[in-house]
Amino acid sequence: MDETILLHEISKLKSKQEQWEPFSWYKEMREKQPVYYDAEQDVWNVFLYDHAKRVLFDHHLFSNRKERSLIPVPRNNSRTNLNFSDPPEHRKRRALVAKAFTPRSLQTWAPRIQAIADELIAEMEGQTIVDIVQKLAIPLPVIVIADLLGVPSKDRQLFKAWSDILFLPYAAETYDHLIEQKARAMKEFHEYLHPIVQEKRKNPADDIISDLIRVDYEDEPLTDEEVVMISRGLLAAGNETTTTLISNVFYSLLVDCPGLYQELRSDLSLVPRTIEEVLRFRFPIAMDRKVAQDTDVFGHKMKKGQMVVAWIAAANRDESQFARAEQFDIHRANNQQHLTFGAGPHFCLGAPLARMEANIALTTFVKKFADIQLVDGFEVTEHLVESATGQSLKSFPIHLVTQ
Ligand code: HEM
Repeated sequence: MDETILLHEISKLKSKQEQWEPFSWYKEMREKQPVYYDAEQDVWNVFLYDHAKRVLFDHHLFSNRKERSLIPVPRNNSRTNLNFSDPPEHRKRRALVAKAFTPRSLQTWAPRIQAIADELIAEMEGQTIVDIVQKLAIPLPVIVIADLLGVPSKDRQLFKAWSDILFLPYAAETYDHLIEQKARAMKEFHEYLHPIVQEKRKNPADDIISDLIRVDYEDEPLTDEEVVMISRGLLAAGNETTTTLISNVFYSLLVDCPGLYQELRSDLSLVPRTIEEVLRFRFPIAMDRKVAQDTDVFGHKMKKGQMVVAWIAAANRDESQFARAEQFDIHRANNQQHLTFGAGPHFCLGAPLARMEANIALTTFVKKFADIQLVDGFEVTEHLVESATGQSLKSFPIHLVTQ
């Protein structure tokens, strides 16, 4: 039976504030217990950059064919599931969706993403305070991924709500209730997508669902069921993560590096560096694998079948990889080497899309507004919601300065 690893139980970070800023715990773990065995859950935890990277790269030792996982989304055992497979089988599955995310196909989407960003940002004009999460960070990725798949973006409240439920983290107290809630969301999501897939079989269009209908997999077309599952996976995968990135970009501009906004105003070419540094510095994420054979590669005896969690956000602040790692610095030479999009065979397929969305959103915003400021009395803990790997901003009101 599948089982979900409860990350908060391992970290013992209880308060919202600690979960939002887990960085001193990460530092302590890197320094004192970089390879930590949690006996209660029978899970190894690694915090150093080199170790996390090895876990992600080395599928012979650390496999994705796992029964237990951090991933709170109910699992499907379809032959097309990307997450729970290893190469060489994984390569075929990945090829199914990889075409949609090549740089060339993305370039054709750039003008559409720009148009959506323009529209969302134009709606902010004339306002003095906007909630940047609700007005930009949530709608942009949802509208974009709906467009890419060919699902009506007017229905976005629906699939955003289902995705949110699917990603809700489990906690011991709410486990059974969440199992039920998630099963219901899965069913409703399915019932929504199924007729869309059937319709596209009759009338294919220029979108990812129609592409999936056209491809052959293992010498036969994908079933409706499989197309629904892949589409649902993409609708969900592209949402919460990109929302977190865009929200955190604004948080970093105002809290981690005040003054950077004016630097961007005078040189927009610094926007991509800013996005990369936010991905390195402030992006809560952890990935898991199953130990595939007994090993002591990290100096401890890990047994076949045990789980290992790579604490990516801790690895991203490892001083041996990033000098002055605890400082937010867009000018560091190697900030693209963060592990936030993973590494190795499962490297995030949506990374070019997420980067493009964040770059377009920030560039468009910076061109429009002379400055931004925190609102008086802003307390981050009042604006957080529990997310799969910690806390994320559910709202973030900011002051807009027009001239
Ligand atoms: C895989 C992070 C946005 C689709 C991954 C993985 C990470 C990740 C860490 C690797 C998982 C593992 O090794 O087990 C992120 C972050 C994002 C983001 C931080 C935004 C800031 C997106 C978007 C899409 C997407 C926009 C597509 C719509 C995927 C897919 C995989 C994946 C399909 C599976 C790849 C595979 O297993 O081969 N993502 N992701 N992601 N991501 Fe993303």
